[in-house]
Amino acid sequence: MRIPDDAKLSTLLQHFGEEEKIKGAVTPPLFQNSLFVFDDIKTLAEELVTPDYDAPPVYSRISNPTLEVVERKMAMLEGTEAAKVMSAGMMAISASILSVVEQGDHVVALDTNYGPAISLFKEWLPRFGVTTTFVDGRCTEDLLDAVRPETKLVYLESPSTAFFRLQDFEAICKECRKRGITTLTDNSYATPIFQQPAKFGVDIVVHSASKYLGGHSDITAGVICTSKERINKMLQPAGEIPLLTGTLAPFSAWLLARGLRTLELRVKAHEKTGNQVAAWLDDLPNVEVVHHPGLPTFPQRALFLKQMSGSSGLFSFEPKVQDREKALKFVNALRIFQRGVSWGGFESLAIPMLAQPMDYKEPRNVIRLYCGLEDPSDLIADLEQAFRVAEL
Ligand SMILES: Cc1ncc(COP(=O)(O)O)c(C=O)c1O
Repeated sequence: MRIPDDAKLSTLLQHFGEEEKIKGAVTPPLFQNSLFVFDDIKTLAEELVTPDYDAPPVYSRISNPTLEVVERKMAMLEGTEAAKVMSAGMMAISASILSVVEQGDHVVALDTNYGPAISLFKEWLPRFGVTTTFVDGRCTEDLLDAVRPETKLVYLESPSTAFFRLQDFEAICKECRKRGITTLTDNSYATPIFQQPAKFGVDIVVHSASKYLGGHSDITAGVICTSKERINKMLQPAGEIPLLTGTLAPFSAWLLARGLRTLELRVKAHEKTGNQVAAWLDDLPNVEVVHHPGLPTFPQRALFLKQMSGSSGLFSFEPKVQDREKALKFVNALRIFQRGVSWGGFESLAIPMLAQPMDYKEPRNVIRLYCGLEDPSDLIADLEQAFRVAEL
């Protein structure tokens, strides 16, 4: 088939990257093979010496046509030159970080980054001589003040997924580019439907595709969206970063390609429900604060409107009564919201956290909610009864 040059997003989501119909199959076939064989040994030898993003697949640990469907679509959606599909979001994160930093380098990251990413910076990288300074990230000047001559990476997550704080991509990336510092952001929350960080100058965009991109809570996957040059660097024998068995298995990639077809429909439904449930909570006298970028009262509203075209079903709130037992009782009393750590699937989830970002004087009970594809009135009724049971 041929996609018109002026095709809109919904059309591109269905067809981009899979124009070639193999044996007339309307969906891309699943290439469930580890190995690719060659008629001409010269082609294989050249590819092994210098692996290249555009070269034909050699071995599924590196690349596979089923993964390439997702990679073409994700690069198009994020507006990057290339994309690499990985076995999990954490693999995309660690492969990207390890391809940038060397012994003696310094990183600037956020105090509210995704927990295991913080652990990577705090517990693992110092073993290899890489240090990290954590900042709040909402104030660009403070973030840039943490930059040192040996800083090689600024690791962002806008919005972060516990307190939903934004960073100003354009202002940060402008300065970092001048100083030769790589910028990276986790875009799992917004998805490229609502935010394309590369347009504001971010060098590497990573995703946990286990969340909205997959969308059905049936795969773990990750994506790195960046330039061919950066991905080729990761593929070099000396780099071998994603070769830490990091690429996605073909069947999971096939499910991910299927999930991407409904991405726009799903995230818009999650956003609508999330906004409705968050606004209801925001009006309750027993709720101190709701952290949701889509609310009109969101403190970084101007930056939200500049950088994002929508929000999400994921947000958190702080009950006025700060009682750990009651917070746990509230979450346990929920009937439709299930108790679980991930998000981005069809099902609503709740998780109680005890968290202390650097601007808080003490740890606070924060309840994170994820609104799935259920009816918003059922979700509100569920929260209402749980507040009553927990006397929160
Ligand atoms: C914001 C964010 N980034 C990254 C990850 C890690 O992704 P994965 O679980 O696919 O490794 C998660 C998972 O919870 C996440 O919430």
